[in-house]
Amino acid sequence: MYEIEIKRLDDQGRGIGFIENKITFIKNALPGEIVVCKITKETKKYNLGEVLEYKKKSKKRIEAKCPYFSVCGGCTLEHLEYQDALEFKKEKVKRILENEHIHYPEIQVIENKNPYFYRNKLSLKIMNGAIGFFEENSHTLIPIEQCFLARPCLNEAINVIKTFSLTNGEIILRCNTNDEILISIKTKDLFAIKEADFGHVKIVGIVLNDKCIYGMPYFYERIHHLLFKISYDAFFQINPYIANCLFEEIEKNIDPSNMVLDLYSGVGVLGLVASKKSKKVISIEIIKNAVIDNIENCKLNKCSNLYPVLGDAKTTLPKIKESFDTILVDPPRKGLDKNSLQLLLQSKAKKIIYISCDPFTLARDLKELQSVYEIKKFMLFDMFSYTYHVESLCVLKLK
Ligand SMILES: C[S@@+](CC[C@H](N)C(=O)[O-])C[C@H]1O[C@@H](n2cnc3c(N)ncnc32)[C@H](O)[C@@H]1O
Repeated sequence: MYEIEIKRLDDQGRGIGFIENKITFIKNALPGEIVVCKITKETKKYNLGEVLEYKKKSKKRIEAKCPYFSVCGGCTLEHLEYQDALEFKKEKVKRILENEHIHYPEIQVIENKNPYFYRNKLSLKIMNGAIGFFEENSHTLIPIEQCFLARPCLNEAINVIKTFSLTNGEIILRCNTNDEILISIKTKDLFAIKEADFGHVKIVGIVLNDKCIYGMPYFYERIHHLLFKISYDAFFQINPYIANCLFEEIEKNIDPSNMVLDLYSGVGVLGLVASKKSKKVISIEIIKNAVIDNIENCKLNKCSNLYPVLGDAKTTLPKIKESFDTILVDPPRKGLDKNSLQLLLQSKAKKIIYISCDPFTLARDLKELQSVYEIKKFMLFDMFSYTYHVESLCVLKLK
């Protein structure tokens, strides 16, 4: 057992202290706190620790609402007031940008209206009949009754899943703002829907091992005056309120009559938002169902100037011969691939709007892009409240 003082938070919101000069990461510990802890893992470079007793508590500490807090690894900032959690994220992003010598303007933060019960997607594990989350960095299942980040209808759907009596597998629950739910199940268990009686829970589809066995393998969502069809395996922003704020900002930053590229387009949401003001939009996406949804979404929204292309950004972008005034990029966490980054640098597009869910890869890419582009706007959207994840939007202008 060791008594240590927490010096600061790391990028995942863990407290940092030192045991015999070795950096020690401790969950649920805040700067200024003095804690008695035990070491749960020891490596050459660092320790992981667990608090046994708080000798001195931070004035910023609040009681976490979620009973699984600090166990499941989801809402890692729930022991902070919302404003303090936002401040943590802002400082984290600043530190990451500064480490890469990025020149950035004042960072604007867009708050989540409801920082609890906002997620429209819940990924659950099933082990030996129990439903829950894996404990952080382990395969130990913590059975849960509800998740404080998920929309209430998804928490109600957990009771529906219980009636499926699955023993092992994975379940993804997704919903729209009308509380209509799509369930995807991956399991080796024998499973069939015998009686589709889900009570008042509105299940619109069930997909078992990529096959639709009930209803539809997709659902619809209406955000920002647009209607989107979203297949079970297509990406969609997980926080509808913040997604709407993000779409509004993107629309504001599209100049009229531009040629626009929407790279990593999913079901085409950003392209559709941009299309209203643009001459033409080309979108590129690797998931087939998402591209099919994008084509359907153009019809649903009476959009005739958006052209969805199926393919890997890396190999598809070089084949596109058009030149673009504005390029929207919203890559997965790993950021831009090297080919696409080079093409962006050579594109001479007047504007790049980079949306990122990983500040580390964003900073890595901005470091390259700032040789040709200047960052005019930097915004954080609190898409993932009470977690350490951040969504950034940068507007870059050709120098
Ligand atoms: C963060 S999501 C953004 C989707 C969309 N912009 C939106 O707001 O809904 C990233 C998207 O990139 C797609 N993707 C991942 N790797 C890709 C690649 N190599 N080429 C093209 N698309 C890719 C994913 O399938 C996903 O739809």
